Amino acid sequence: MKHFLDIHKTDPADLRGMIDHAIAMKTARKGLPKGTPDDDQPLSGHMVALIFEKPSTRTRVSFDVGVRQMGGQTLVLSGSEMQLGHGETIADTARVLSRYVDLIMMRTFEEDTILEMAEHATVPVINGLTNRTHPCQIMADVMTFEEHRGPITGKKVVWSGDGNNVFASFAHAARQFDFDLVFTGPETLDPEPALDGLYRTQRNPQAAVKGADLVVTDTWVSMHDPQSARERRHNQLRGYQVNGDLMGHANPDGLFMHCLPAHRDEEATSAVMDGPHSVVFDEAENRLHAQKAIMRWCLGV
Ligand code: CP
Ligand code: NVA
Repeated sequence: MKHFLDIHKTDPADLRGMIDHAIAMKTARKGLPKGTPDDDQPLSGHMVALIFEKPSTRTRVSFDVGVRQMGGQTLVLSGSEMQLGHGETIADTARVLSRYVDLIMMRTFEEDTILEMAEHATVPVINGLTNRTHPCQIMADVMTFEEHRGPITGKKVVWSGDGNNVFASFAHAARQFDFDLVFTGPETLDPEPALDGLYRTQRNPQAAVKGADLVVTDTWVSMHDPQSARERRHNQLRGYQVNGDLMGHANPDGLFMHCLPAHRDEEATSAVMDGPHSVVFDEAENRLHAQKAIMRWCLGV
């Protein structure tokens, strides 16, 4: 069973194959209306469940559109409306869904939920974000970097802000794709210790960003963070905002990424979001193409 649960759990050669496949599929569709079916219809006859226990715009729409372009069908389910949200076990849910669908994509809170789903499902399971990781996003980000600047191997990537779930998948990708990852943020919001050894830390954001090929940030308050922590987190992170001054310390052709949704003029200024270094909307588009490649890898089609 080929689950796509995390970047560090997936073979580097397979990851490379998915990125190359995604770029090829994107190129083949260039200029076509979004609803145009792909020529080969690899998901013809396949039913895909998309389960959301947290809100989503990009993940929801890009998976749904991707499946349809490939000739499959989708069921978009919200966790709270399923028995899952009312006490049915994850294991039983996995066994039942596997009788109806060929692939399960899930966005949830605890990592254990997706691991249990994968353990008991008899169809592939894809991680659409947990409190700990967001692997589909980083596949789209690697694809986006390579489209603009060529191979990411050996490049310097700087994360400024909260050491959160999206950072964790960047750290996994740094190992698998062999790039240099620097974290700059307050000690109180350091990445989890399990990621030690996958990145370097530089507390001073200007020094960290020096020579960066890519600067990345994300929201200061994630969906799983309590709103009561908002003010404290903002106070700790304010000095790590990605603004014109900080981007000025990066390489002149350094890119800026944000997985979105962004809180403009908090973690990044609008001038940077809309400026010449920014590729944030390419990242969003590439969720579609990268996930199509991920789904095909999972299903072997
Ligand atoms: N970046 C991302 O996963 O966005 P959504 O929360 O809108 O899916
Ligand atoms: N870190 C953010 C990413 C959203 C796509 C969150 O978990 O809310």
